[in-house]
Amino acid sequence: MNTRKTLKVNENNHLEIGGIDSAVLVEQFGTPLYVMDIEHIENMCKAYSDTLKKEYYDGRIYYASKAFCCKEIYRIIDKFGLGADAVSEGEMFTAKSAGFNLEKVIFHGNNKSHSEIEYAVTNSVGFIVIDSMDDADIVNEISKKHSKVQPVLIRVNPSVEAHTHRFIQTATPDSKFGFSIENGDALEIVKKVISLSNISLKGFHCHIGSQIFEKQGFILAIRKMTDFYKTVKENFSLYLPVINLGGGIGIWYTDEDAKYSYSDYADFVSTICSELKRCVKEKNLEIPYLILEPGRSIVGEAGITLYTVGAVKKIKGLKNYLSIDGGMFENPRYALYQAKYSAVAATSMNEELTEQYSIVGKCCESGDIITENTLLPEMKRGDLLAVLSTGAYNYSMSSNYNRNKIPTVVGVKNGKAFVMVKGQTLDDLIKLDV
Ligand code: LLP
Repeated sequence: MNTRKTLKVNENNHLEIGGIDSAVLVEQFGTPLYVMDIEHIENMCKAYSDTLKKEYYDGRIYYASKAFCCKEIYRIIDKFGLGADAVSEGEMFTAKSAGFNLEKVIFHGNNKSHSEIEYAVTNSVGFIVIDSMDDADIVNEISKKHSKVQPVLIRVNPSVEAHTHRFIQTATPDSKFGFSIENGDALEIVKKVISLSNISLKGFHCHIGSQIFEKQGFILAIRKMTDFYKTVKENFSLYLPVINLGGGIGIWYTDEDAKYSYSDYADFVSTICSELKRCVKEKNLEIPYLILEPGRSIVGEAGITLYTVGAVKKIKGLKNYLSIDGGMFENPRYALYQAKYSAVAATSMNEELTEQYSIVGKCCESGDIITENTLLPEMKRGDLLAVLSTGAYNYSMSSNYNRNKIPTVVGVKNGKAFVMVKGQTLDDLIKLDV
């Protein structure tokens, strides 16, 4: 377990999160329950922001909303001066409803709808990221209609292969995202964007992938990106004041992953800052405003999902199944990416780990697995199970598959719990049915 001040084993040998015993949380809110350790989120925001301020001239951290989106998260990041990356009208609307200034939002997407662009332009989002030829035309046309000049970035693909799951690599040469620098598409879109009068090109964006621990991928991306800034400067005499290097820094899920401390994350950002400073100087570029868009690393390890154990099925000589009252409807990451998780027996943390279990959900689907080969004490119906590092891409990717209800999300801090998102009720499930 990646323990910290706010995630530890207490004197009752129970898992304690944010100063509250997990059994107490379950008594109050039931299971399945998403728990978010607010102090961890705050510490991550602070580690990233402070480092960027200290190690670079000017810039901002934009939290990637897709990792975990609800009104409360925007209030939290706002306190630390972060902006937000949004990929849909829904994320922008949630931010706005929380009182978040949309000028601190970057709107991304490889296929933004007309109405989403209209929403972004009329709400004065900071930047729209252009990701296809006609995206440029549509944003220009909508901005013109509203007598605006919309600041834009162009998403480019620097062809850096991050060492991560194929579905979360985003800068391979055949990616659906961005314009390839290598094949000349990126230069083509620059030509087009600068010919349009209601959009104003401010710089480039890249995102090489997600769950990355190797700094080398980022270093390579910075080199390729700054080469491209140089090419653009030489070809078009353009001064581009912004560089956005995306997100992607990894978190601990199991002991196959690195266990980063806050200072390790700070160090990651420092490396990015110093490589960018070095490249800018070497290539004689103006110093760009630096944007980073971490999502997973801000909220991922803050999340813990609590479950009640149901059926335990031991198939002799083959497999032990531990069924929990959640499943792929609230954590689809195994089903999608064969993601691995660590689980602990939340109320018997001191017991010897004697059994190996496949932890499975309650959906009508063999692939409804949370994680496999997990060592736990002997477990029985009614026991509490905690799955760790579920704060990113769990709640935000949940669904009502099998008409299951999406669980409550509670935030915990200094021994107090508060509801961030109410759990769905049966009535919520049929609310939109006609
Ligand atoms: N910026 C852009 C443009 C992105 O596409 C992403 C993630 C991020 C920032 C944030 O990346 P992060 O720091 O969270 O790695 N559902 C997958 C992850 C998909 C990530 C997509 N883009 C998962 O559950 O692993």
